[in-house]
Amino acid sequence: MKKTFVMFSVIATAVLVFGTVCTAKDQDERGGALFKQHCSPCHPDGGNIINSQKTLHKKDREANGVKNASDIVSKMRSPGPGMSTFDDKAVSDKDAKKIAEYILKTFQ
Ligand code: HEC
Repeated sequence: MKKTFVMFSVIATAVLVFGTVCTAKDQDERGGALFKQHCSPCHPDGGNIINSQKTLHKKDREANGVKNASDIVSKMRSPGPGMSTFDDKAVSDKDAKKIAEYILKTFQ
């Protein structure tokens, strides 16, 4: 009986860990795919083909006051000169957040 319980716990833990890892991976992939679709034409590899001072890399971004996910989402909703606007019809709040998290993680 005890053995069965231990076995069950091991399997349950494995399933739980596996599920969490997979979900996290999907989130990353979705953020990355959305970034490619909407942002990479002007920001290839986190750069900026129009204004080279305003890349998505941490150093430039933070120097320009864009520090966290909500700053990035604000930029999408009301961008500066040369950047297209992404309203919540183009990119939902949820997706905008995923893109922001992808940028923060990818372009250090
Ligand atoms: C048509 C070209 C274009 C597209 C598409 C575009 N951007 Fe931009 N982006 C720019 C330009 C130009 C700037 C500089 C604007 C300014 O002066 O604020 C900029 C600035 C930024 C900044 C501020 C960077 C800094 O260092 O100050 C962020 C963050 C940003 N874009 C995110 C995005 C995201 C996220 C997307 C996709 C949803 C996107 N951009 C799509 C052209 C673009």
